[in-house]
Amino acid sequence: MTKEKRPAVLIEKWFPVQELGIECQRENSSGNHPPPNRLHVWWARRPLVVSSAAILGSILGCNTNPDWFKKFIGILGDPIAAQKKIEEAKQTNTRVSNPFGYDRAFKYVPTDEQLEEFKAKLIEMWGEIPVVLDPMAGGGSIPLEAVKYGLPTYANDLNPVAFVIEKATFEYPAKYKDSLADDIVRWSNEIYQRAKKELEPYFPSQEGEQVFCYIWARTVVCPECGLQVPLSPNWWLQKKDNSKIAVKIHYTTQSNQCTFELVENVKMNEYDPDEGTVARGVGKCPRCMGTIHGDYIKEMAQTGRMGQQLYALGVQRLVGRRTKKSFRIPNEADLAAVNNASKIVENKLPDWQINNLFADELIPDGEKTKEPRRYGYDAWNKLFSPRQKLSNLTLLKHFNDIKQEILDKEEPERAKAIITYLAFILDKCFDYNSYLVRWDGTRNKIANTFDRHDFSFKWSFGEMNLISPGLGFQWATETVLDAYKGLAEIIHPTETPLFKQAKRLNTEQIHITQGSAANLHHIPDNTIHAIVVDPPYYDNVMYAELSDFFYVWMKRTLGDIYPEAFSDELTNKDDEAVANPARFRGFDVSPAELARQDYQQKMQLCFQEMYRVLRPDGVLTIMFTHKKVDAWDTLATALISAGFEITASWPVHTESEHSLHQARKNAAASTILLVCRKRETDGSGGWWEDILPEVRRTALQKVQEFMAADITGVDLYLATFGPVLGVLSRHWPVQDRSGEAISPDKALDEARRVVTDYRVQSLLQGRRGRFDPVTRWYILAWDIYQAPQFPFDEGHKLALSVGVDIDALRTQKQIYKKDGNFIVLTSPRERSRRGQVDVNAQSFTSYIDAIHTALLIYEEDGAAAVRRFVQQANLLQSDDFLSAYAALVRAIPAGQPEHLQLKDMALAAMDEKLDQLSLW
Ligand SMILES: C[S@@+](CC[C@H](N)C(=O)[O-])C[C@H]1O[C@@H](n2cnc3c(N)ncnc32)[C@H](O)[C@@H]1O
Ligand SMILES: [Zn+2]
Repeated sequence: MTKEKRPAVLIEKWFPVQELGIECQRENSSGNHPPPNRLHVWWARRPLVVSSAAILGSILGCNTNPDWFKKFIGILGDPIAAQKKIEEAKQTNTRVSNPFGYDRAFKYVPTDEQLEEFKAKLIEMWGEIPVVLDPMAGGGSIPLEAVKYGLPTYANDLNPVAFVIEKATFEYPAKYKDSLADDIVRWSNEIYQRAKKELEPYFPSQEGEQVFCYIWARTVVCPECGLQVPLSPNWWLQKKDNSKIAVKIHYTTQSNQCTFELVENVKMNEYDPDEGTVARGVGKCPRCMGTIHGDYIKEMAQTGRMGQQLYALGVQRLVGRRTKKSFRIPNEADLAAVNNASKIVENKLPDWQINNLFADELIPDGEKTKEPRRYGYDAWNKLFSPRQKLSNLTLLKHFNDIKQEILDKEEPERAKAIITYLAFILDKCFDYNSYLVRWDGTRNKIANTFDRHDFSFKWSFGEMNLISPGLGFQWATETVLDAYKGLAEIIHPTETPLFKQAKRLNTEQIHITQGSAANLHHIPDNTIHAIVVDPPYYDNVMYAELSDFFYVWMKRTLGDIYPEAFSDELTNKDDEAVANPARFRGFDVSPAELARQDYQQKMQLCFQEMYRVLRPDGVLTIMFTHKKVDAWDTLATALISAGFEITASWPVHTESEHSLHQARKNAAASTILLVCRKRETDGSGGWWEDILPEVRRTALQKVQEFMAADITGVDLYLATFGPVLGVLSRHWPVQDRSGEAISPDKALDEARRVVTDYRVQSLLQGRRGRFDPVTRWYILAWDIYQAPQFPFDEGHKLALSVGVDIDALRTQKQIYKKDGNFIVLTSPRERSRRGQVDVNAQSFTSYIDAIHTALLIYEEDGAAAVRRFVQQANLLQSDDFLSAYAALVRAIPAGQPEHLQLKDMALAAMDEKLDQLSLW
């Protein structure tokens, strides 16, 4: 097939990146997540609106009317204008009521008329209805959208948990609409009633209250005085501006058991609940003030000698007509119930084991799973306290009884679907009722196990009262049900015309499989029109390791329902395409490097398989988000080596805006869409020297284009990567005159240099400005990362491109300190403590030193002093200094305190140069 015979698709020519960015923010607005996110945990789900845009953009022709396209994906107004209104309102501190004027895009359901038109366009373009594949479908955003638009869909994932989530996300809602809802409610209630009867004695409550949560601290015995020390980083129960509630710890010399007192109106000058008993893994005994070493704590945990103490209960009381959340200290009945629960767990253990309800699979030593193992959690069932086990396993037992009844009564496929949703309700309970669950006093709710993408240890943990009416299990039921109904609503509100021939939704056209994307043996060669895939982002998420938390329980709830997916002990890590250093420990070569090679190899095999099944005129659209250039290099090498060329790329602002607190740490905000085709060259390759000008020209053109579209910071760099890789892929394989093969990172470095130069020019606003490399690095760091904290590797790459030594910036200049793998820029005061900023100095080797010195003087001695200083040091006479100063202010985002300080100081000490600085 030649280029003429494969007409360009929409996404190769045009894509509404700005509108989509805004819709992504709306889609994930906190507290109101889309249905898939509420159905079951999956890590790093893609926004639905981007998924649909990527699919439709890959199959519609390039002359599709942009307005028609936007409407078709649910963008019914002008989100850019609406966003502007919101920002203006923010600045003037006024309110605007929803300026969008339409619902969030992902909720849009296309009309029959639109679908008819869509179908006509597809037939004209392809001669048939195109088939869509997502071979790494995870939580299923992409295939869900393909199904929503009536397209024949193949979805696959290696992970069995993802496989089941996909079934529940789009296959069952497509098949049954919302008709399972009543059955789910009925059967779930049956489980609830049976479990409640059994569990009630272990969850006593006082008259007029409903206990919804218990707050505990893990304990160890103080090695010096023998006190059973409850370990918690702080004692807050509620920390809001208008309501501060905490507990206070008490101890005596007579008893080794602490007690607690409720403090309802915390006055910080009298009692500071932030003074906990543990910080950075090291404990402190409140009685003898002795240090409790981290190693000792770990040893206690690993040898089963870490205990726990209940210190508060979250309760709901009816006040007038409204329920009010409050707290109380445990009473004797509460403590007795806890003891009884522990005893009964001992008694029940053999029975649970015989019935295989008890997940005694070991937690393997992995990248994310090494953390729980450090604290003695070495089997999956150990992640639950005794009473949590009692609750969870009692529910599980009744679930299994009910499952049999459902299988006896319902038609087999329908039974399967109902049971799947019921199992998700249990999973939600497990997720919210483990040792890794935290009481979040700022949000007044329990933060689940997977609030973060890891298994971080919690000193104080929450326990849910699963049988509390309307809460716990019933809340989990409500949430799953709601998600299911929400999915049914977007997938199948009308009969879509594409399926009309069959008079009902043709679910035969939905294929979900579980296996490696490197082996899609159920799909013949050259048959797929569009592959849209969101592969693992290098080392961002360890899906298999994390998902074992659910896998071990799903095995017990759904193992017989999907025997093909649950035969293994744990999930498959060997075939998973992630860069996981934990799999390569103990070799001579660095685990990180072996992990990189492994990821590249696996991704290449997956891309080769995609190449096989894709039609010659088909389109592969990849979503990728990663701040590290290494990840890009690796992915690009895999992709290009598998035979693809990149024909277009788009940055979409998918991650939500951060609070100022989070804004101090940089995180990439964009997803880059790479549009690829099967490569059409003769394979003879190209010379680096010949294509270098094209690489530079492309980077420059793109940086201008994307800056005009308001793309900033890291995103700007990432956005140029696709086009530059496109140049390289067209000439692949590329070598230089000395015969050395050129890898993609060479082109990426080139792109980075072009963008850096361009950014400096634009920060200077056309003025002349020559300044030292240290100052240049500092300004660019702020400009790129928009935050004082960013990954070390990135700072290193930047240092290489401006020509400074990254280590010297720290050891000699004290410009930053390291925090793990992060760079944290140091303040003028910190630099002065280390002798790098000196208020008595009169000359400077770099402008940033002069600026920092001035800031320090301004902070300590005020405006008059800093005026004197800038005059004595002759700073205002230097155009270069003023240029650097202005560039720095422009580089630092307006919301950061550093930005304001610099502006204040300019007003205070440089008033005769304000024009030249032109900062206002
Ligand atoms: C970024 S996630 C996909 C997320 C998805 N787009 C969503 O919105 O939920 C990448 C997925 O790739 C899967 N995966 C990793 N290695 C795989 C392999 N060799 N074959 C198939 N899937 C794989 C992971 O299990 C994970 O679900
Ligand atoms: Zn002590």
